[in-house]
Amino acid sequence: MPENQKESTIFTPPSPRHVAIIMDGNGRWAQNRGKLRIFGHQEGVKSVRRAVSFAVGHRLDALTLYAFSSENWNRPIQEISALMELFIRTLDSEVKVLCKNNVRLRIIGDTSRFGIRLQERIRRSEAETCDNEGLALNIAANYGGRWDIIQGVRQLANQVQNGILHPDQINEDVFCQVVCMNELTPVDLVIRTGGEHRISNFLLWQIAYSELFFTDVLWPDFDETVFEGALNAFAKRERRFGKTNPE
Ligand code: FPP
Repeated sequence: MPENQKESTIFTPPSPRHVAIIMDGNGRWAQNRGKLRIFGHQEGVKSVRRAVSFAVGHRLDALTLYAFSSENWNRPIQEISALMELFIRTLDSEVKVLCKNNVRLRIIGDTSRFGIRLQERIRRSEAETCDNEGLALNIAANYGGRWDIIQGVRQLANQVQNGILHPDQINEDVFCQVVCMNELTPVDLVIRTGGEHRISNFLLWQIAYSELFFTDVLWPDFDETVFEGALNAFAKRERRFGKTNPE
C-alpha cells in the first residue's frame, strides 16, 4: 500500500473543539504556602497563559475560562479589588500576545457592574483582537449560567412584545441564538480544577451534552500535562447525545 494511503487509516481519537474551564483552587494554593489568597490568583494568571498557549498549539476552536462568577461579589472587598486590578493588568499585558497568536478575546457576563477602568480595558481588548481568526478565547466575568438564561429570556420576551416573534415559534434552536457564545462550536468538554465536583452556575444551557472532567490539581498547578490528561480522558468517552450505542 502506498505510504500516503497508509496514513489515512491511522485512527485519530476524537478531540474537543471547545473546552471550558472552571479555574478553582487559587486561594487554597496560596494558603497552603502561608500567603495571601491574591498571590494564588497572580499565579493563576500564569496557568491562564499556559492554557491559552496549549489551546492555540492544539488548534482548539474555543477556550472559555470562568474568571469571576456572579457569586464572587460575596468575597471580602480587598480580594475583589485585588482581582479587578489583576484583570486590568492582565488585559494590558496580554493583548499583544493574543494578537500575535491570532486569538480573539471576548468577555461574557454582565460587565456593567465593573468599574469604568476595567470596562474600558475590556472594550479596548475586544476591539483590538476582534479580527483575529484563530482561537476564540472567552473569559466569563461577572457571569452566571442563570443570568445568561434570564438575559436570553428577556431578549425573546422583547421580540414577542415587538411582534417579531410568536411564542409558538420559541424552541431550542431559537433559544440557542440568544445565550452567550451562540456563534461558537458547542462546548465539548468542561474541566474543573480544585477538587470540587460541581458546576457552580457556570454555563448551564451550553453544557447539556458536554463531557465533564474533574481534577484535584489546584489552578496555579494546572499545566500542559493536566490539560493533555483531560483531552486523553475525553478521547475515551463515548458520546451518545441521548442515543443508544449502535452495537
Ligand atoms: C477560583 O479560585 C478563582 C477565581 C475566583 C479567580 C480566577 C482568576 C484568575 C485565574 C486570574 C485572572 C484571570 C484572567 C483571565 C485575567 P478560588 O479563589 O475560589 O480558590 P479556593 O477554592 O482555593 O478558595
